[in-house]
Amino acid sequence: MNGRVLHVVGTRPNFVKAAPVVAALRDAGCDQVLVHTGQHYDERMSDIFFRQLALPRPDTDLGVGSGSHARQTAELLIALEGELTARNPALVVVYGDVNSTLAAALAAAKLGIPVAHVEAGLRSFDMAMPEEVNRRLVDQLAELLLVTSPEAIGHLAREGVPADRVHLVGNPMIDTLLTHLDHFDPAAARAAHALPERYAVVTLHRPANVDDPEAARAAVHALTEAARLIDLAVPLHPRGRAVLGEAGLTGAPGVHVMDPLGYVEFMSLVRGAAAVITDSGGVQEETTVLGVPCLTLRTTTERPVTVTHGTNRLVGPSELVPALRKTLDTAPDTRPSEGPPLWDGKAGPRIARIVTRWLDHHA
Ligand code: UD1
Ligand code: UDP
Repeated sequence: MNGRVLHVVGTRPNFVKAAPVVAALRDAGCDQVLVHTGQHYDERMSDIFFRQLALPRPDTDLGVGSGSHARQTAELLIALEGELTARNPALVVVYGDVNSTLAAALAAAKLGIPVAHVEAGLRSFDMAMPEEVNRRLVDQLAELLLVTSPEAIGHLAREGVPADRVHLVGNPMIDTLLTHLDHFDPAAARAAHALPERYAVVTLHRPANVDDPEAARAAVHALTEAARLIDLAVPLHPRGRAVLGEAGLTGAPGVHVMDPLGYVEFMSLVRGAAAVITDSGGVQEETTVLGVPCLTLRTTTERPVTVTHGTNRLVGPSELVPALRKTLDTAPDTRPSEGPPLWDGKAGPRIARIVTRWLDHHA
């Protein structure tokens, strides 16, 4: 097999998705380069994932960091153009829907380097979400579109993407979950954070929930009411720290605010939780596979299989407490037995087969 594969990662969800793909391509004997853009840079948002998920050290860290959308994307583009030119890959692999994903796909496309998009075709149909803008553009630029759930195939067909570019491969984030499942220890994670036996986990970081003080107040009001029903463990993404704190989250009775957690500790808490309240994309998927009830504080989801084949339910702030009460009163074995198709822990090897075949024909 000829040709180098260059992976671009930059944020927490990218690391979780890339780990099984990098491992499977390593096993296939592929020449690989791993580029970290530095979009996420705190120890607990970045380094801890490389250690826990056995990701190789990045060959380069571009150190781009935080900024407005325009500034961050512009700096990513400039840094990635230099890196791609120097490394001369045959294929660039990008993950998910973050600014690093868009910048990498655009820089590669302008240099004439083909792009593979892992997690292509998801759509929330809400262009107010920066992720929806990123996904749509990346899918127009990609040559290989690697899809995690069947409805994505229809979305891409309607946007004019040729069918022979699209491959349903399953979900690499679930590969990571199944690989580490035996290391998830809910009792130890609960003890480390002095949580009672019955608790719920909360993660919030979407701009729609945590940037605007009014929206943050509505979310915090709902959460402090929810904490009357059950203790809440809240590993807080740095984005929401200030505004959610000012809205009264920190110090509310029954609300255990903590720093972002490493992958194993976070998934340990989720596995042992009576329910999860979130606006995360990845957490909707992980709770579906673990069978933990998930209440998503959003009006849309780009991951409808987590509702139809899983434990997810969309709720507004005013619906949260009744929905949580109902969830906590419901026997845990009422969830559907079959998860989404191909969420079986083998997405990484499927992607590696498609990529190596592509390299054999094109590189
Ligand atoms: C990004 C993605 C989002 C994804 C999320 C996963 C975009 C547009 N958004 O959102 O889709 O769901 O990552 O977590 O790419 N910060 C730190 N330390 C860090 C990283 C960020 O303190 O290591 C703070 C900074 O104040 C920064 C803010 O968080 O301004 C937002 O970071 P950014 O990477 O721009 O977006 P996220 O909200 O993390
Ligand atoms: N995660 C973690 N620690 C945390 C919160 C999240 O390890 O404190 C993991 C979890 O696997 C999740 C992934 O990071 O699915 C991505 O998280 P995030 O919600 O930040 O991103 P999104 O999936 O919404 O883009």
